[in-house]
Amino acid sequence: MNANATMQIVRSIAELQNILNTKQRDGRTVGFVPTMGFLHEGHLTLVKHARRDHDIVVMSIFVNPAQFGPGEDYEAYPRDEQRDAELASTAGVDYLFIPSVKEMYPHPSSIRILPGEQATRLCGASRPGHFDGVLKVLLKLFNIVDPDESYFGMKDAQQLAIIETFVRDFNLRTTISRVPTVREEDGLAKSSRNVRLEKSERNEASAINRALVAGKKRYYEGVPLQEVEKIVRKAIENETSGTIDYVTALAYPSLNEGFNQTEEVIIAAAVKFTSTRLIDNIIMSTIKDEKNV
Ligand code: PAJ
Repeated sequence: MNANATMQIVRSIAELQNILNTKQRDGRTVGFVPTMGFLHEGHLTLVKHARRDHDIVVMSIFVNPAQFGPGEDYEAYPRDEQRDAELASTAGVDYLFIPSVKEMYPHPSSIRILPGEQATRLCGASRPGHFDGVLKVLLKLFNIVDPDESYFGMKDAQQLAIIETFVRDFNLRTTISRVPTVREEDGLAKSSRNVRLEKSERNEASAINRALVAGKKRYYEGVPLQEVEKIVRKAIENETSGTIDYVTALAYPSLNEGFNQTEEVIIAAAVKFTSTRLIDNIIMSTIKDEKNV
């Protein structure tokens, strides 16, 4: 792949809005990939989709303080702007938006965006306020970039479901595309936080995906979901030194506790290791068919 020699790094909101305004666009469509940087193949796969579907590809890199709680890893979140710029350029990004915190949040805002029930479960239960911060930054980014389509990974399935609701309920112009989770060879979901695992933890961490895959198999064999949750939990407990935050099966994308045939089922897991917390999930059909096994 050739580096996109024309990739432009933009740090100012006004400048990006100027570049992307309707007149300048002249009918060209914009695909958008919001990230917090420290890019890996998961992020770059989102870019690949945007590049395939749109004339202009915009990526943002912003470690958003509003979505980190006190005591979480905002300061320790890995950052490498130069490497990110090279990867983004090679992947075909046209405009890389890297605003400062001051640029995005020049003054405190008294308005909050409060997601509903969907945000109270899974990560929402252990990270209160997290999804408020995600929606806050995304509303700003969507208004700044005005994308035709925005790409999100299924690795953060709850985030994706909440964003879909947000866009639908508030008539935001962008469409939202779901991109499947990109994994390491041993099945561990790619994540910027994987570098914060100790060596032994990195080896164990592949057990999370293995446990979810095994759980899916048992579910299709007819094992009730409550049992499946226990099986997944036990496998993670036995095979890793991490502490389980949750292993939970819910309807997807509503994240309701009741299941019906119009939705899929998600088993989502979060596991805390010494310096970082990993999440992963697997999606299953509510219709148990031999073809699914
Ligand atoms: P970040 O964790 O950097 O992720 C940016 C996007 O990449 C998200 O849509 C995420 O789901 C996707 N992604 C991460 N790992 C992936 C993988 N292994 N496979 C596929 N996609 C993957 O998510 C955020 O940033 C932030 O919350 C953000 C949406 C940018 C708001 O600040």
